[in-house]
Amino acid sequence: MTVTATEALAAAADAARLAPSVHNTQPWRWVVRGDASELYAVPQRQLLEQDPDGRLMTLSCGAALHHALVGLAAEGWQARVERPAGAPLAVVHAVGRSDADPHAMQRMQLLRVRHTDRRVVSDEPVPEAVREALTEAARAAGARLHVLNRDQVLQLAVMIEHSGEAERHDERMRAETEAWVGGDRPGGTGLPDAVIPSELPLTTVAERDFGVSGTLAAGAGHDTAASYAILYGDGDEPADWLRAGEALSQLWLTATEHGAAVLPLSSPVELDFTRQALRRMLGELGYPYLVLRLGTADPDHAGPPHTPRLPADEVIAVEPPDA
Ligand SMILES: Cc1cc2nc3c(=O)[nH]c(=O)nc-3n(C[C@H](O)[C@H](O)[C@H](O)COP(=O)(O)O)c2cc1C
Repeated sequence: MTVTATEALAAAADAARLAPSVHNTQPWRWVVRGDASELYAVPQRQLLEQDPDGRLMTLSCGAALHHALVGLAAEGWQARVERPAGAPLAVVHAVGRSDADPHAMQRMQLLRVRHTDRRVVSDEPVPEAVREALTEAARAAGARLHVLNRDQVLQLAVMIEHSGEAERHDERMRAETEAWVGGDRPGGTGLPDAVIPSELPLTTVAERDFGVSGTLAAGAGHDTAASYAILYGDGDEPADWLRAGEALSQLWLTATEHGAAVLPLSSPVELDFTRQALRRMLGELGYPYLVLRLGTADPDHAGPPHTPRLPADEVIAVEPPDA
């Protein structure tokens, strides 16, 4: 069966629905037309209190863009990407087809199993070689990863304490979180109870407190064996946040391949004062986009289920080529 460029782009946009996004807001929309598809951010699903500049929204869209490119490559399509980083944020052109690349097909499988795991990490640290592979994955996709040393982890713990506290005391931020978190999420967005710990684990660096207790048994361990890292880069503009999202996706698929669990911690980048503190931690050599906890998940128990997704027709429109 011959698959047209339009069909391949629509299938790639469908695969991109599985991308991670802040609070599972899925703030993206695709318009597929002929042999190109346009990626737009959806401000109605932006967290206006926690993400007023749209950093995390754009970063989430970057992850969706990378997922779509993985989907295209898995079907043997070559893509050319323009990143105007306005509206649209990106345009993906399907430019030709060859045999499907087995490596891309494997990444497509990884994309289906990748998920966020908020259980405590096991006692097995992520091996140095895997951390190097993650650093290289981020670099190849246009961002960088700085793995924190012990002192910096303690500084991060304090920073996260402060940003978490500030957000908990802000009524509007709390209300915004409540709108996206808890319950069954029949609308296909947000975090259901099943992925939220029933009790916040007692770790050195606190996980995000969503203000609700879910049904996930997070385990009684600690985060002694976890590594913490900052995803960062040279610029602090929408084009850079989009690249950061692509890098996050690339890094997370690589982590999944090596059995490492990734937990994004975005509260310190949501507030100016902690974002500046993260920047100082980077020696002002770059701009922080996201903090990541890296660990090895408990191999003996099943992880949390997948979070829901919006139906395809709410995020993908296929239009006639001359529309
Ligand atoms: C930019 C960004 C920021 C995120 N921040 C957090 C966070 O602070 N705490 C957390 O527990 N999860 C965080 N997440 C994970 C999302 O909640 C998760 O990706 C989303 O619910 C979809 O679930 P999945 O990753 O299992 O597919 C973040 C994800 C992204 C892409």
